[in-house]
Amino acid sequence: MSKKLWLRLRENWQMKIGVVGSGYVGLVAGACFAELGHDVLLVDNDRQKLAELQRGECPIHEKFLPELLQRHRCKRLHFTGDLAHAVRKSQIIFIAVGTPPKEDGDVDLSYVESVAQGIAGAIDTYKVVVEKSTVPVYTSTWIRRIMLLNGAPPELFDVASNPEFLREGSAVADFLYPDRIVIGADSAPSAALVAQAYRPLTDGSYYDRPDMIPGPVDGNFKAPLIETSTKSAELIKHASNAFLAMKISFINAVASMCEAVEADVEQVCEGIGSDSRIGRRFLRPGVGYGGSCFPKDLLAFRGVARENGLQFGLLDEVARVNAEQRHRFLRKVKKALWTLKGKKLAVLGLAFKNGTDDIRESPAIAIVKALLKEGCSVTAYDPAAMKRASEEFPDGSIKFAADAYEAIAGADACLILTEWEDFRALDLRRMKKLLRYPIVVDGRNLFRPALMQAAGLNYYSVGRADAVSTRSAVTPFLKHAIEEDEAA
Ligand code: UGA
Repeated sequence: MSKKLWLRLRENWQMKIGVVGSGYVGLVAGACFAELGHDVLLVDNDRQKLAELQRGECPIHEKFLPELLQRHRCKRLHFTGDLAHAVRKSQIIFIAVGTPPKEDGDVDLSYVESVAQGIAGAIDTYKVVVEKSTVPVYTSTWIRRIMLLNGAPPELFDVASNPEFLREGSAVADFLYPDRIVIGADSAPSAALVAQAYRPLTDGSYYDRPDMIPGPVDGNFKAPLIETSTKSAELIKHASNAFLAMKISFINAVASMCEAVEADVEQVCEGIGSDSRIGRRFLRPGVGYGGSCFPKDLLAFRGVARENGLQFGLLDEVARVNAEQRHRFLRKVKKALWTLKGKKLAVLGLAFKNGTDDIRESPAIAIVKALLKEGCSVTAYDPAAMKRASEEFPDGSIKFAADAYEAIAGADACLILTEWEDFRALDLRRMKKLLRYPIVVDGRNLFRPALMQAAGLNYYSVGRADAVSTRSAVTPFLKHAIEEDEAA
């Protein structure tokens, strides 16, 4: 890039940005870059999705995203299916297309490759091509090679890595109020150009705006910027997700230990989490992690280690503990109900976590499928994920309820599988009345066992002692059998 162009860019920090892929990462990034004042062209080859976005619809359940799309659509945020047009118009192009897992656990990078080919064919002036999708280390090197092979002049582009750390459900706030922004680049101009896209966050000016999206920090906040090599940035993303998954599996393994020795995992969490070196976050035990990121990224990270001749057995163990967590939950349901065949179960929560309608790799979906195999019937309720879940159970194999109470009515037990806040507010007395038997198996530890016991419920949770109501010391099934005997 010429010095003249660089000086001009510095004077006018507002940029023309292309974002390729309108999935979670691309759509949120595109809307947020527009929110920061840039002109954004969001590219997707899915015509139906484009039409929805052009009509002003928001295809995903994400807090603040509909507001941002409404605010910037047709002004600073435009949608197109024409990649070449977007490349020519943009100074910087973020690749945010899907990188789905393959059968063998490797990542399918064919979408990234075809976007790189498309960019190469259209490049006319200096651009920075930035990988934002989660990809294995060396992907930036491959993007560069593919672009050169497809005729892109080497002096007209740089490839950089700018991993995204947003969580589904709080993606917009995570983007606008990040713990850190990581920019991996191997040339100073490309690093500076990517940093420019984030300037309102790193200089704090965004947080002075009266119309800013509210976030978790005070007025003096400035987003920290970390500049690294491209390979380090690629590794930071995989290592961050692997570490968080490890924290969850660690606490789940500790929860099993608590069950074995009759300790309480919540007390243990408080004790270990208050060490500032460990921290309390991501120490919630449950049915294991799911979603489109942790399971896939863990496998991909392990794949990269193997390719490089390294054994990273810790990652295998993290995945093993996670899978075991679902089996443990099923064993708890069996323990509470004795036999499963013919049992009518209420399932609260289908999304892989709260705040989202995403069911990819959701432990809840896997558990429901296992219960159906055992011959149970299931009525489920989820505040956001039922539409997506109905595609997973197209044959009407489960019923969907309009609210939690409808799901619970007449059920032999209630299972809690997603940590939705709404469920914490359930009226326990009403719950007890509606259930055929007063059994709650909570895979997310939403309630205090003593409270459940006081409400007359038999409560089974993770890493804590079972709280069997003294009012039903005779097990519900025994009671039912006695009643049936008497009636006969
Ligand atoms: C995760 C990371 O948290 C983000 O930083 C990252 O950007 C994203 O992956 C990604 O790579 O795109 P996400 O998958 O949206 O974000 O969800 P998390 O909030 O991390 O939760 C993942 C799973 O772990 C959920 O199933 C959740 O229920 C579970 N979890 C989380 C626990 O079981 N216990 C906890 O303490 C925390």
